[in-house]
Amino acid sequence: MKKHIKIKLALASTLLSFNVFAAGDLHLDHANTDISDTASLQNGAKLFMNYCSGCHAIGFMRYNRIAQDLNLSDSLVAEHLMFAGEKPGETITTAMPKEGAAKWFGVTPPDLSLVARAKGTDWIYTYLRGFYEDDSKVFGVNNKVLENASMPDVLWSLKEGKSEAEFDQDVRDITNFLDYVGEPAKLIRTSLGVWVLLFLGVLLVLTYLLKKEYWKDVKYGIWRPRE
Ligand code: HEC
Repeated sequence: MKKHIKIKLALASTLLSFNVFAAGDLHLDHANTDISDTASLQNGAKLFMNYCSGCHAIGFMRYNRIAQDLNLSDSLVAEHLMFAGEKPGETITTAMPKEGAAKWFGVTPPDLSLVARAKGTDWIYTYLRGFYEDDSKVFGVNNKVLENASMPDVLWSLKEGKSEAEFDQDVRDITNFLDYVGEPAKLIRTSLGVWVLLFLGVLLVLTYLLKKEYWKDVKYGIWRPRE
């Protein structure tokens, strides 16, 4: 039995280390996103709706949840984020028909609800900044992270008139937004964690004092059974 577990562990660790090596030849820049930065999430949401939602859906997210989490009024969300005729309770779909997309791009642009969970924020951040000119491609660009990606460099117009740092910040905001979309509960979970640890700290002090109280009698021999 024990031997089996050992073999399995050894196998698992070999597989893991191979994975690490496979990812190793690709350099990913640090996204440095901060999910508690509401202004960044707001900017990311706006940019996403303007530059990405034409092709990508985020089917696990609803407009009114975004309004609530990002401190946006419903009217602001309706005006800046929603397409005409949509309702606040609806999920974020894309205007692009699936069949058309497959014909135009060769693949259907994937739903991005969970992409930050699947690929990580560093991957997205590097991918969006990783387009380079390549005339052999249909859209004239290729990508250093996703070789032969069939996605055009949609952020080229955002780059205009911006410094590299400003553009990087915009991409960071989009990445931050996708990280939030992947796990909206993270906003509460991480701040709740601090309170849980504080609570456990207080409990530790109380239990220690209680232990001292009990052991006082045991140590000094004045313990006696109840009458
Ligand atoms: C014109 C349509 C179009 C637009 C606009 C667009 N994308 Fe894409 N995107 C695609 C296509 C097509 C793919 C699939 C690429 C492939 O697999 O070759 C893709 C792939 C991706 C992937 C990789 C997903 C995966 O799991 O491999 C990410 C991340 C992504 N897009 C993010 C974005 C973001 C963020 C924006 C907005 C800034 C955006 N896209 C705008 C068409 C688009």
